[in-house]
Formats: sequence, structure tokens, C-alpha cells
Amino acid sequence: VVVTPQTAAPSPRALPALAARPRHVAIIMDGNGRWAEARGLGRSEGHRAGAEAIGPVIERLGEHGVEVLTLFGFSTENWCRPRAEVQMILRLGGEFIDRHLDELHRRGVRLRHLGDPTRLPGVLQRRVRHAVERTAANDRMIVNLAFNYGGRADIVAAVRQLVQEGVPAAGITEDAINERLATAGLPEPDLLIRTGGERRVSNFLVWQSSYSEYYFTDLQWPDFDAAAVDAALLEYARRRRRFGRVADDGAEGLGAED
Ligand code: IPE
Ligand code: IPE
Ligand code: MG
Repeated sequence: VVVTPQTAAPSPRALPALAARPRHVAIIMDGNGRWAEARGLGRSEGHRAGAEAIGPVIERLGEHGVEVLTLFGFSTENWCRPRAEVQMILRLGGEFIDRHLDELHRRGVRLRHLGDPTRLPGVLQRRVRHAVERTAANDRMIVNLAFNYGGRADIVAAVRQLVQEGVPAAGITEDAINERLATAGLPEPDLLIRTGGERRVSNFLVWQSSYSEYYFTDLQWPDFDAAAVDAALLEYARRRRRFGRVADDGAEGLGAED
């Protein structure tokens, strides 16, 4: 007897073959407010929908084999928003951790926090700390939650630490700064995605993204789904990264050094 299922499970999207794959993807999750306004809803509804969009994106990037994902959830400048909106965003951040921690842990995701936690509400600080500690031994994928993160603040904190360590001027190198940034030990972001149509960095990973490939999409963050992830990675695979060198197709080198 052949048992036919009543309802077919949604077929998983086939994974496109990629010629190159980013190790580290960073995302500026922008456009929640405009998504809501376009639907006659309040901005908080947009933030709620934005929080819902995060899980499937993590999952899809994991399927692609991306090792590190950094999500910009709240910037050091976002404190200037109306108090109620700030509270809403921070509360949703905590709820996201609450609702997804078990599953992320089961899938081998290691959660980390980027940014200064001390200004965050106590409940959120505790949730973040708990999530980071609980997933510390996971090694399938790292997900950095940038909450109260600012790229400039990150650099200032690194330089302060160098001074506190008494590092002499000659010891202040790019590596020395790198090792003291919030992203120490991680590969630099290969691909930086910004949703919402704006084409700016808004003080995200300003040091780390010196050689990132930028991908801008007019999709608002709540609409960014698995298909959108695929489109961004396909575009990334088409880019030619040169890092200041000449194109290396069949490069012979100058010969002098090697
Ligand atoms: C991104 O959406 C979420 C955060 C900045 C926390 P916005 O709230 O910036 O949405 P827009 O840009 O106003 O549409
Ligand atoms: C960047 O978006 C910050 C986050 C997505 C967390 P913003 O909406 O704050 O950026 P601006 O103000 O348009 O530059
Ligand atoms: Mg915005």
C-alpha cells in the first residue's frame, strides 16, 4: 500500500552552484520602518516583521556554507530615535534570542555579540550573555549580533586597549588593531549586504569592510528571504576581487620578487 501524504511539504529551494562563496557575510538590515509605512502600519510592526525575517536568512546562509554572519541590529546612532522605538527594537532583540536559541544551538550556531553591552537593558544583556555562553562550543557557523555597535566606537575601543596595554608607537600596527576589534580572529566580511535601498555604511564595520564587496538591494529587510540570499551570493560569485593588485587571470607576476 502506497501512502500518499495529504499535504506535500514545501520543496526546499535548490541551492544554486556558486563559483565563489563568501566566508563572512555582513548585513545591514534596513527598511523595517518603510516596509511598515508602505502598508499603513506603525514602525514597530516593521521591526516585528524584520525580526521574523532573520531566521530563514541564517538558515539559508548556513546551507550555502557561509562560516560567519554579522547582523547589524542596532547602531550606536540608533539611540537618537524616539525612546519607544528604541525600547521596541531592543525588546525584539531579546525576544529573537529567546525564541530561536534552542534551534540555533541545535544547528550548531555559535552566537556572539558585537558592540558595547553595558548600555543595553539588563534583561537583554543577560539574554545575550546566556546565548553566547550556551553556544560557545558550537562550530558550524558563527552569528554575530551587532547590538549597540558602531564601527568607529569599535576602533576607538581597540586603540584604547592598546594604550592601556602600554603598547609602544611602533607596536601600533594594522594587525595589532585587528586583534583588538570586536571581530578579532574572524575573517573580514567578504560580502556586505544592505537592504532598504540606501547606499551607505552607516558606521557599520568601517575598518573590517575595507575590501568587502558591497551589495545593495531595494528590498526592505522584512522581504529579504532565501531567494534574496541566493541572488546576493550569485552576484558575489560574479565579482572579481583584486585587493589593489592587477587582475590575476594567468598572471605571471613581475618576476623580480619570485
Ligand atoms: C532597520 O530599519 C532597523 C534598525 C535600524 C534598527 P529602519 O528602522 O531603519 O527602517 P527605515 O530605514 O526607517 O525604513
Ligand atoms: C543602519 O540603519 C543601522 C541598522 C540597520 C541597525 P539606519 O536606518 O540606522 O541608517 P541610516 O540612519 O539610514 O544611515
Ligand atoms: Mg533605516
